[in-house]
Amino acid sequence: MITGNVRPANMERITTPELAKKFIDEQIVALREQIGDGKVLLALSGGVDSSVVAALLIKAVGKQLVSVHVNHGLLRKGEPEQVIRVFRDEMNANLVYVDATDRFLDKLAGVSDPEQKRKIIGGEFIRVFEEEARKLQGVKFLAQGTIYPDIVESGPVKSHHNVGGLPEDLKFELVEPIKFLFKDEVRMVGHELGLPDAMNYRQPFPGPGLGVRCTGAITRDRLEAVRESDAILREEFAKNGLEGKVWQYFTLIPDFKSTGVKNNQRAWEWPVIIRAVNTRDAMTATVENIPFELLQHITNRIVNEVPGVNRVLYDLTPKPTGTIEWE
Ligand code: XMP
Repeated sequence: MITGNVRPANMERITTPELAKKFIDEQIVALREQIGDGKVLLALSGGVDSSVVAALLIKAVGKQLVSVHVNHGLLRKGEPEQVIRVFRDEMNANLVYVDATDRFLDKLAGVSDPEQKRKIIGGEFIRVFEEEARKLQGVKFLAQGTIYPDIVESGPVKSHHNVGGLPEDLKFELVEPIKFLFKDEVRMVGHELGLPDAMNYRQPFPGPGLGVRCTGAITRDRLEAVRESDAILREEFAKNGLEGKVWQYFTLIPDFKSTGVKNNQRAWEWPVIIRAVNTRDAMTATVENIPFELLQHITNRIVNEVPGVNRVLYDLTPKPTGTIEWE
């Protein structure tokens, strides 16, 4: 097992499928050596990092890995289903799925301050995970999808799924098989492990999820409208060759309404805002130049298919001055 927090100088960059395969084979040996016949716990968000760690551990120790997927109700359309399909159905993993939607949304009801919302989501996530960990007997290890940039950089992109704050009785030995990998290497390994492209090349998604894209106090109907409009945007980007080309794209709904007209009647409804940006490190960002006809088509679909929405706006603001998320 490699220890310490500095990537070994002799560690080869993973640039080909063969090198990815070699890394996987070596890790399987190292993981078996570290874990023996112990039980390993993992918070599996469905993001590329935790998914690669899960797939590696399933290969190395099979059912000794217990993956916990917490649905906080703020995930994108189809995400929990994809995690269940890929890991439980296809990889035959030991997966605990917890639908904690009501718990999170009840706690968040009426809370409008963005930092307070983040605290509630992060804190509740740890509590749900802790509860699941306590139900299991004999866990010795905690696996984490830490990657090299998490160790060496302190940029704005941080995993809010990290469970570093567990209490003493749940302090397990860490298993971090990809901690020296850069993102492109993680993706190459994920591809070689057979993870679907949709998971492997997934755009970044913040830990608090759609919670920060339903600005102000979250309501269930507005959250559903964010989820549906985001699914339409993703579907249209995929159809038009923008998936994998644009760094991050999503919709959000602010907490105000405006007047519109639907079926010859006044409609007092929400606007949907589209954001699509490119960046290297998320510190600065430029706005994607989306063809106007595509924007019009997406607008038509959203106002016709998403209940409660009467307008669509495109955010033209680079970072700075606008951050990528709205809160
Ligand atoms: P901003 O809005 O600061 O976002 O320009 C930069 C990048 O960070 C992501 N982001 C977050 N990720 N937890 C996360 O895990 C958060 O609370 C959070 N807030 C922003 C954002 O999606 C973008 O990629």
